[in-house]
Amino acid sequence: MTRIVVVGSINMDLVTQAPRFVGPGETILGERFISVPGGKGANQAVAAARLGAEVALVGALGVDAFGRQLRQGLVSEGIDVDHVAHLHDDASGTASITIAQGENQIIVVPGANARVTPAQVEQAHELIRRADAVLVQMEIPLDTVEATVRLGAHLGVPVILNPAPARQLPVDWFRLARYATPNQHELATLLGADSGTDFRELMQAAPCPIVLTRGDEGAWFREQGEPIHQRGFKVDVVDSTGAGDTFNAALAVFLHEGLPEAVRKACAAAALSVTRLGAQGGMPRLTEVRSVLARQTG
Ligand code: RIB
Repeated sequence: MTRIVVVGSINMDLVTQAPRFVGPGETILGERFISVPGGKGANQAVAAARLGAEVALVGALGVDAFGRQLRQGLVSEGIDVDHVAHLHDDASGTASITIAQGENQIIVVPGANARVTPAQVEQAHELIRRADAVLVQMEIPLDTVEATVRLGAHLGVPVILNPAPARQLPVDWFRLARYATPNQHELATLLGADSGTDFRELMQAAPCPIVLTRGDEGAWFREQGEPIHQRGFKVDVVDSTGAGDTFNAALAVFLHEGLPEAVRKACAAAALSVTRLGAQGGMPRLTEVRSVLARQTG
């Protein structure tokens, strides 16, 4: 079984569906409200587990009602939460999400996620040493992200760095990642480039191999030479929250099949994930990904 370690955030997503986004000082009536598990780290852990991987998560929760609910959700997906810290003096992370007109807006309050430490990564050393791939994103402190890419590089375990939300990173440890998986805006931010620059040029200038996500257009990937396009899978979009997380998880799970096949499966999994409400609501199981791919080729 493929073994994946995820180092990242755990949030409760407070999701409002509305007819449109609200302006400053304005109140409108929404259509629906749900609170569902989210956070980029937890989402990637859940997506990888549903695709059949053995998954451990390194993260932090508050000792509060959300924390208990979020932990229970992870355990029920079969995820090892032994390296999730429980902090008495901080709240669990939350994300206030508005979905309107097929788009989303998200405000994350990190809470306990801001206290995921490099020491926790070191404590997971043995798990990481045995992992087939490690996933890390940027809703946790940057020194913890750095500790993760450094440890992965030291142990020879591929680290997939998902640079979301976008921040500029020191180039020397950016290049320690096996792959970085930005969208176009995140890639420009990472490289300190103008967001209007052609993404293919940016991919070629990046210090590590890039797998660039392009929403319903699919993804572009490059190890050497020219970037290659994998087209997206057409679906009816209900909620795109968590699509990037599903993509990253699938990429990690299928990496041993080679990059082109991993990207193809990641695009299929990400497409399926947007067909239901909530970041984790539409995350597919392996059988669903296989049947989408069989329909495409058959
Ligand atoms: O990537 C989607 C996630 O971003 C949401 O689940 C939300 O918690 C934010 O972290």
